[in-house]
Amino acid sequence: MKKTSDKKVIVITGANAGIGIETLRGLLDENTKIVMACRDAEKSAPVCASFEKASGCDVDLMQLDLANLKSIEVFADAFNKKYDRLDVLINNAGVFCRKHTLTKDGFETTMGVNYYGTVYLTHLLLPAILDTGKARIVNLSSGAYYGGKLKLNKPSLGARSNFPAYAASKLALMYFSFELAARLKDRGVTVNSVNPGHSVTGIFPSDTWYWRLANKMIAGRAQTNEQAARTSIYAAIADELTGVTGKYLENGAITPVRENIFDAQMQKRLWASTCKTLDIDVDII
Ligand SMILES: NC(=O)c1ccc[n+]([C@@H]2O[C@H](COP(=O)([O-])OP(=O)(O)OC[C@H]3O[C@@H](n4cnc5c(N)ncnc54)[C@H](OP(=O)(O)O)[C@@H]3O)[C@@H](O)[C@H]2O)c1
Repeated sequence: MKKTSDKKVIVITGANAGIGIETLRGLLDENTKIVMACRDAEKSAPVCASFEKASGCDVDLMQLDLANLKSIEVFADAFNKKYDRLDVLINNAGVFCRKHTLTKDGFETTMGVNYYGTVYLTHLLLPAILDTGKARIVNLSSGAYYGGKLKLNKPSLGARSNFPAYAASKLALMYFSFELAARLKDRGVTVNSVNPGHSVTGIFPSDTWYWRLANKMIAGRAQTNEQAARTSIYAAIADELTGVTGKYLENGAITPVRENIFDAQMQKRLWASTCKTLDIDVDII
């Protein structure tokens, strides 16, 4: 039987590490129930327990592998049985794969996790989001989006690996956010993209001299993970963002996107091609 929560329910993917963990910390509140949606439940359990113990707040841990559509279905099913509302979905989890690998469903892994898995999760959680009436969806983008190129006629939108795949996945997610925001405009749900800015986390590779050097060079100018989480937290709860949708946020503020990267036709075509790939009704919303 469904449990009704009178607390605000927030789902954060990848809440066990990096920016996600700091986002969780910043959102802890006694009137909020946070669901950590994490790939490795064993590794994430101590994080969940330590937050609960230190704050006395309600934190739940549920297993989710965004590289596996079946796992996303299992997660969504379990979530929908347990909760009957979802006030904020923070699609924070992400990967950057230096080498070409495939997910269980045959997607290039970066595109599979950052884009297809995230879109599929959002789709399956939409009933709970819509039931809530004025929910927010926050998608973690990156300044890398402007380097993205999407090829709709190629598997995984043409993504192969490394920076081109990462940039393409973030560009695709931006398109998804804009399209979803437009489609949900009159349904009380807002959808915004956040670039957290650079911080030192586990996301970038460190297994080659090139990446070790690059990481060292950017580390000097990086923010802390706590600082990097601030824009996600702002997008999730700030009163002044009530009703604000289809925006891109950086440094805690709405920021214009590079218009020359975006193409309205591409946005529609990507939506249609993604729905086809994921077997979702194109006019579901
Ligand atoms: N750090 C930056 O400079 C930067 C800049 C711009 C944008 N971002 C974006 O910020 C977000 C957070 O990244 P981060 O820097 O905090 O990286 P991170 O420390 O590597 O954390 C990534 C999180 O995503 C999770 N994850 C990876 N693959 C997953 C999968 N298949 N299923 C479920 N969860 C998965 C990881 O889980 P595990 O612990 O199990 O691996 C981890 O919790 C990402 O979307 C990233 O693209 C980061």
